[in-house]
Amino acid sequence: MGPVRMQVKRISMIRPFAAEEITCCFWAMPRWLQAGPAVQGAEPRAGERKSCRGSLTGMGNQPSDFGRAVTALLEYLSRQGYAFVTVTPSTHARVIERRGDNAAKNLRDAFGWNLPFDKDLLSPDLFASLYAAEVVRPNNALWLSNVRVASLNGHLFVHSAYPTREEDAVFFGPDTYRFSSAVLRRLRTAEPITRAADIGCGTGAAGILIARTHPKADVVLGDINERALQFAAVNAAAANIANVSIHHSDILAQLPGDFDFIVANPPYMVDAAQRAYRHGGADQGTELSLRILDAALGRLLPNGSGLIYTGAPVSDGEDIFRTGVERVFSKHRATWTYDEIDPDVFGEELDQPAYLNVERIAAVVLEFRKG
Ligand SMILES: C[S@@+](CC[C@H](N)C(=O)[O-])C[C@H]1O[C@@H](n2cnc3c(N)ncnc32)[C@H](O)[C@@H]1O
Repeated sequence: MGPVRMQVKRISMIRPFAAEEITCCFWAMPRWLQAGPAVQGAEPRAGERKSCRGSLTGMGNQPSDFGRAVTALLEYLSRQGYAFVTVTPSTHARVIERRGDNAAKNLRDAFGWNLPFDKDLLSPDLFASLYAAEVVRPNNALWLSNVRVASLNGHLFVHSAYPTREEDAVFFGPDTYRFSSAVLRRLRTAEPITRAADIGCGTGAAGILIARTHPKADVVLGDINERALQFAAVNAAAANIANVSIHHSDILAQLPGDFDFIVANPPYMVDAAQRAYRHGGADQGTELSLRILDAALGRLLPNGSGLIYTGAPVSDGEDIFRTGVERVFSKHRATWTYDEIDPDVFGEELDQPAYLNVERIAAVVLEFRKG
C-alpha cells in the first residue's frame, strides 16, 4: 500500500491545529499521534500502544498526552525566548558537576541542563499537563524533566534527557549543529527541491530545516527509532511545518519513490551497546554510512544531490570511510566532493578496544550529485 496522506489535527488540544497541520502518512505515523478514528485501520492496537509507550520510559498514561504536553512546552519555551545549545555528554557532565546540588534557576537549567526544578518555573496549567503525561518526574522536593529542549536556527527541538543511555534515546548534539550547517549551506544555493529525504532523522532537525526553507517541497523524514519519529512529529508541529511526512524506515527501504535531495547524519561510532543513535556498524563504524550512500545514489533522480555528514576513522594515515566511499562511487555515475571539517572528534573513544588501530576520527561532509 502506498502512503495515504492525512492531516493530523488536534495533536494539541491546548491550541487547535488548523494553522499548523502536519501532513503525515497515516500508516507510517506513530499511532499515538494519529488524530481520532478518521482513517480505517488507524486505531492503535493494544500491543502497539503498549510497545510505543513501553519505549517511552516514564512518559504518558495515554500516549497522546505526551504529544500534547510536549507541544505545549515547546510553545511556552518559545514564547519565553528560550534558547539552548546542546553540548557533548562530557561537556554537559562537567558543567552540571560545577553546579553541585543547586536547583534550576531558570528554564535553560531545567530543560537544557536537566537540573531539578521547582514547579513554579512553569505555569500551573502547563505543569499539570507535563505531570499528567509524565514528561516530568518527582526528584525529592523538586522535579526533573524526562526530555531536553535544544534550539537550532531559531526553532526548538525536543530530544532525550541527559544522560542519553537508553537504547532508544533520541540524539541531538554538536553533530546535529555541524550537519545542519552543512545542509543550510547547500540550501543557500537556491537549487530547486521538490522531494527530499532525511535518513535517520532523529529529532527531524535537518528535514525540518529543508521543509522550512522549501515550503513547496515534499520532505520525508525516516528513522528506525519509534521514539525519534514521535519527537520529530512534535518538533515539526511546534515549528508549524506542513510539508513533512514521517515514516518508520530502515534507510530508504520503507520510503517509496525517488528524491532530488537526500541528507543523512548517520551514527558513526562503534557502540558496544549497539544503540541505534550511535552505532555505525562494522569497519570502525563506517558500514551504515556507506550503506546509506549506496542506497541514496540508487534513489536519486538524475542531477539530484545528496549530503552525508559523518565521522571518518583514520588508521595509519588512511581514512577508512573515504576508502569505502571510493568503492561505492565506482558502482554509480555521480560526482562528489569530500570535506574534512574537523580533524579530531570524540578523541576519548580511542580508548575503546574497537579503536585500537585508529589514530583519530574526523568529522566529514560528503556531497554528491547523480550523473
Ligand atoms: C546520529 S543520529 C542523527 C539524528 C539526526 N539526523 C540529527 O542530525 O540530529 C542517527 C539517527 O539514525 C537513526 N538510524 C540508525 N540506523 C538507522 C537505519 N538503519 N535506518 C534509519 N535510521 C537509522 C538513529 O535512530 C538516529 O536517530
